[in-house]
Amino acid sequence: MEKMSIFSVYTVILVIACLSDAGIEGRKVGVLKKHEEPSSDGTAGISLPAMSLKILSGKLVLHLCPIFELISLFICHFPIAADALSSTGLADLGYVYVNIDDCWSAASRSSEGQLVPDPNTFPSGITPLADYVHAKGLKLGIYSDAGKFTCQVQPGSLFHEVDDSQLFASWISMRDALNATGRTIFYSLCEWGVEDPALWARGVGNSWRTTDDINDTWVSMTTIADLNNKWASYAGPGGWNEPDMLEVGNGGMTYEEYRSHFSIWALMKAPLLIGCDVRNMSAETFEIISNKEIIAVNQGSLGVQGRKVAGEDSCLQVWAGPLSGNRLVVALWNRCSKAATITAKWEDLGLESSTGVAIRDLWQHKDLKESAVASFSAKVDSHDCRMYIFTPGTAAHSDI
Ligand SMILES: *[C@@H]1O[C@H](CO)[C@@H](O)[C@H](O)[C@H]1NC(C)=O
Ligand SMILES: *[C@@H]1O[C@H](CO)[C@@H](O)[C@H](O)[C@H]1NC(C)=O
Ligand SMILES: *[C@@H]1O[C@H](CO)[C@@H](O)[C@H](O)[C@H]1NC(C)=O
Repeated sequence: MEKMSIFSVYTVILVIACLSDAGIEGRKVGVLKKHEEPSSDGTAGISLPAMSLKILSGKLVLHLCPIFELISLFICHFPIAADALSSTGLADLGYVYVNIDDCWSAASRSSEGQLVPDPNTFPSGITPLADYVHAKGLKLGIYSDAGKFTCQVQPGSLFHEVDDSQLFASWISMRDALNATGRTIFYSLCEWGVEDPALWARGVGNSWRTTDDINDTWVSMTTIADLNNKWASYAGPGGWNEPDMLEVGNGGMTYEEYRSHFSIWALMKAPLLIGCDVRNMSAETFEIISNKEIIAVNQGSLGVQGRKVAGEDSCLQVWAGPLSGNRLVVALWNRCSKAATITAKWEDLGLESSTGVAIRDLWQHKDLKESAVASFSAKVDSHDCRMYIFTPGTAAHSDI
């Protein structure tokens, strides 16, 4: 087998969009005092995390890439996926990108040097699919790779300094080339977080993977959540940390675990990429990925990534982040093996303990408190997550 260079493993997903620029409110820092404001320069005017359906295509992918069960379903059935996104109502909720993942192209380029769709899997090419998807008011995503090969070969970066520099330069050329098309394009970078892209990818792409690939297990999901959390302060409108797609609905985790997965991804302002077969989701799967209040947290105009604020060394954790209008999103996440009570303390949220806070439960869709002070506790089942919007008012009556 030919020796692979570092170039073989860096991937790029280009999501062709026709977005109008979504305006961003003044991004003043919310009440989470520990928050550092991200810098505001982004590329291509894309300000919100992308919401999409991820589709793997192509036979080559079978033994190399994960979640290949999707392939047999979607190979040659790409339009069906687009239809399902519309007919389920998910498109109306904001899931508007239909992404074709790795291995859609033939093994060699045309004599003019262009990528050619695999004649077996995409016999009519990509153009009719793009037209079809655009005619439905959706957007098409397509995968490309900065290297010689594709499909999940992990690099070691030591002694590849020259290669890496060239690679980064090539990404900037790609950004400029995309920009020069005059189309608004969401440019999603993936090098599996190897070179800490949060440190340099803003200004190059609109999102960057911070971690290795996710798989449909509790261990993988929690590990990735913690890794992505470290880069919170680097995310912001125009450039987002991407902890990989959602496994919700793929069957490897429980309802509670998927609810945690969706809650934490939304709170972290991760691009919400559906990874399951949307044609026949269970009612529970649909309930999770269509939760409008949680989608609104993810797509919120302030665009600040929420983070773990209490319980770093414990399995009882509080995650939180600022939202527009001085509100906060707060998640109580029980990663222990037994049900437990978790308490969010105002001091961990950057609030004065006397502040009265209205609390709304985003999974029960219910207002719970008008003016809680000092702390809020709830019993949370094992591996489950409760998610709330906290709206601080004035000081509590007893203090006035
Ligand atoms: C191309 O880049 C310029 C400068 O950053 C920006 O103003 C313009 O909107 C970009 N064009 C597109 C189509 O994104
Ligand atoms: C899933 O991810 C976990 C954590 O990263 C890893 O330990 C495990 O080997 C992975 N499982 C599969 C089947 O890839
Ligand atoms: C999902 O739906 C498709 C199309 O209706 C069907 O062919 C397939 O068997 C279904 N899969 C499952 C697991 O129900």
